[in-house]
Amino acid sequence: MATVETSNQNIFAPMLVFFGIIALLLLALMANMPASNIVQPTIVSDPANDDPAVAYAWACAACHGAEGEGVENFGPSIVNSPLLDDSSALMAMFTTAAAPADPEEGFVHPYRGGYPELTNAQLRSLIAYLGAL
Ligand code: HEC
Repeated sequence: MATVETSNQNIFAPMLVFFGIIALLLLALMANMPASNIVQPTIVSDPANDDPAVAYAWACAACHGAEGEGVENFGPSIVNSPLLDDSSALMAMFTTAAAPADPEEGFVHPYRGGYPELTNAQLRSLIAYLGAL
C-alpha cells in the first residue's frame, strides 16, 4: 500500500509543472490576441453633449434603430411618424407620462426616452434631428 501512495505523489509534482506550463502558454496566447476581440462600448453617454445625433444614439437608437428604422419588439419605426410634424406633441410625449401615441400599443413612452438627464433644450434639438432621419 505504502508503495502505491508514494508513486501517486511522484506523479503529482510533474503533472503540476506540466499543467502550469500549459496555463502559462495559454496566457501568453491570450496576451497576443488582437485588441479587436475586446468589445468596446461605442456610445459615450454624456448628458452635456449637445449634439442631437449623439443624444439620439444614446437615448433612442436602442429602441428605434440607428436610422429610426425601428427595432423589432422594442420600438416602431419613427421615420414616417406623423408625430414628427408636431414638435409640441412630441415634446409633450417626452416630458409627461403621456398616454401611448398608438393606443393599441398600450405603452406609455419612456419619460425623456428613459433618460431624465436630457434637458428640454436637448430634447428640442433632438426633435429637430428626428425630422432629418
Ligand atoms: C424603451 C424603448 C424606447 C426608447 C428608449 C425610446 N422609445 Fe420611442 N417609442 C417606443 C415605443 C414602444 C413606441 C410606440 C408606442 C408609443 O407610440 O407610445 C415609441 C414611440 C415613439 C414615437 C412615436 C411613433 C409613432 O408615430 O407612433 C416617437 C417619435 C419616438 N418614440 C421617439 C423616441 C425618441 C426621440 C427617443 C429618445 C429620446 C425614444 N423614442 C426612446 C420605445 C422607445
